[in-house]
Amino acid sequence: MICYQPFLMSIDKNITMLNFLKPFYPIFFAVVNNSPEYVHNQTIKTLQNIEKKRDSIGSKWLIRQMEETFCSYDSALSQSLWNLKFTNPLGLAPGFDKNAQGAGIWSSFGFGFAELGAVTLHPQQGNPLPRMFRLPEDKAILNRMGANNDGAKNIASRLEQIWFRQKRAIPIGINLCKSKITDLSDAADDYVNSFKYLRGWADYFVVNVSSPNTPGLRSLQAGNQLKPILEALTKENQGEKPILIKIAPDLEWQEISSILQISGDYNLSGVIATNTTITREGLKTKILPATRKPITEENGGISGLPLRQRSTEIIRFIYQETKGQLPIIGVGGISDTESAWEKIIAGATLLQFYSGWIYEGPWVVPEILQGLKRKLEENGLNHIEQAIGMEHN
Ligand SMILES: Cc1cc2nc3c(=O)[nH]c(=O)nc-3n(C[C@H](O)[C@H](O)[C@H](O)COP(=O)(O)O)c2cc1C
Repeated sequence: MICYQPFLMSIDKNITMLNFLKPFYPIFFAVVNNSPEYVHNQTIKTLQNIEKKRDSIGSKWLIRQMEETFCSYDSALSQSLWNLKFTNPLGLAPGFDKNAQGAGIWSSFGFGFAELGAVTLHPQQGNPLPRMFRLPEDKAILNRMGANNDGAKNIASRLEQIWFRQKRAIPIGINLCKSKITDLSDAADDYVNSFKYLRGWADYFVVNVSSPNTPGLRSLQAGNQLKPILEALTKENQGEKPILIKIAPDLEWQEISSILQISGDYNLSGVIATNTTITREGLKTKILPATRKPITEENGGISGLPLRQRSTEIIRFIYQETKGQLPIIGVGGISDTESAWEKIIAGATLLQFYSGWIYEGPWVVPEILQGLKRKLEENGLNHIEQAIGMEHN
């Protein structure tokens, strides 16, 4: 069953088994607070098993439960972009499914699209544990995972198997990152070779030059280093797949302008704003409980609520600079209807989230989508496309 079938609208979402679990989510969340990566890995493995056995009675029943609980369809939220159909604008941000283990199940959580990865050419372990921390006071996550993943070749063969079992129900993106062992000067080859393995198994690709957890990666955002990467990738791609760039929130306006200029030169399909931030300004958390060290001394990127405002400012800036001509995927601090709507009217065509989904639980996806529909009605609009960049009118 594909989750965006309109008949699901008629099902009373309050009567599913998963909705009975909703009140217990905050308790579960508090209990597992000290081992977020372990819980994450177990969750991914469970979802992978459900998807692998999708024809078994148990999996079929569970997937149906998920779809009845989390999927909601409204034609007012559906868009066509890059020749792809996005049945709703809310996607899963990269970092959650780094190895594409759950690639076939994200549609059943109600997402309009999902971005997998980051994938690097070479398999890599990432940074030492612990490397993922929740900051509940800030509704934030600190991570310094370091792009741990199975590598492009293995992930391509996993995706091949998944897409053999089932057709892609939603657009799938892949976030490409440079391998840690590859010199910055050889970055272009690293990205291109990953792309060659993966190009047949996803719908769009993202040049991630903004993760703070791969040494030197963010320096690739500078023009002289970015151009050879985009040159090589776009040459290899020959216009076949949409290629986007994901930027950091810690850039100066001038640096963003320069990236936009280069993105235009290479005909990129869009910009993703933003990755996690390295600033620690405004955080309520002063000491990281897991390490008992000041938060200012802990490496890594912050996501979630503290990022919300900066990421929206950047979306607003990009929309203005490009006169709304370059699609923007807005990400950073989305956790409810207001934070999602704010990014759309600032100029985002599509949205992604990670931290808010973890903090609020998967029920938040239909809540946000229904909230966006309400926002359209309140503003006298018929379709989400009319709301994109609306605050600039
Ligand atoms: C644990 C973790 C791992 C992440 N890994 C990646 C990654 O591999 N590639 C990437 O582009 N962004 C990665 N991100 C950043 C998210 O995709 C997103 O840009 C950021 O978290 C802001 O969104 P949020 O506030 O909704 O979490 C990661 C975030 C977290 C929390």
